[in-house]
Amino acid sequence: MSTLHVIDHPLIVHKLSIMRNKKTGSKDFRELLGEIAMLMGYELTRDLPLEDIVIETPITKMTAKTVSGKKLAIVPILRAGLGMVEGLQSLVPVAKVGHIGLYRDPETHKPVEYYCKLPHDIEDRIVILVDPMLATGGSAVDALTMLKARGCKNIRFMCLVAAPEGVAKVQEAHPDVDIFTAALDERLNEHAYIVPGLGDAGDRIFGTL
Ligand code: PRP
Ligand code: URA
Repeated sequence: MSTLHVIDHPLIVHKLSIMRNKKTGSKDFRELLGEIAMLMGYELTRDLPLEDIVIETPITKMTAKTVSGKKLAIVPILRAGLGMVEGLQSLVPVAKVGHIGLYRDPETHKPVEYYCKLPHDIEDRIVILVDPMLATGGSAVDALTMLKARGCKNIRFMCLVAAPEGVAKVQEAHPDVDIFTAALDERLNEHAYIVPGLGDAGDRIFGTL
């Protein structure tokens, strides 16, 4: 069974509370999402392997540690996942970025695939799949299946707000994928929106309400 990591650092909790407030506009919402993605990225990359290299300081030769050759890829689920890319890139500027396009059918709440473009060597990379909302879990499960079909073996999923239903669905379908979230909310409502949640993340990021 994969692990659910709730990254509830006070700064993250504070910023998320501002995002949840319906009075917060798109500009602040976007900025806060980017900041939280960066703060969460710090935790999410905590176990990256290090390797030794020999360097010379101005004083002497030494064996120093660097992040090992295993490269990263950041893969946002469109649209809302885009809001988390820059924050992660500021931590790992050399990470490649892939895109997976999925939207939820408004009637069935099931994800519909419309785009997939990934780095050519995605199977050799540690993949961070990002989407602010883990609601029913349908989108995350499908995106993870798409990544695995293209050879990805080391994947972690990062979201902002998760519903228990979505966590259970991802853990059942992809028990090898750890989930990182800033908050585990109460439940889904009859429209499969997270309660209390923050509304429609894509609409709030892009001002399409
Ligand atoms: C939202 C969100 C997730 C999905 C979560 O996207 O960004 O991708 O819903 O719901 P699920 O866990 O029930 O699948 P949406 O489908 O609204 O598309 P958008 O980002 O393009 O607005
Ligand atoms: N997608 C969102 O953007 N918000 C929710 O609460 C559920 C799905």
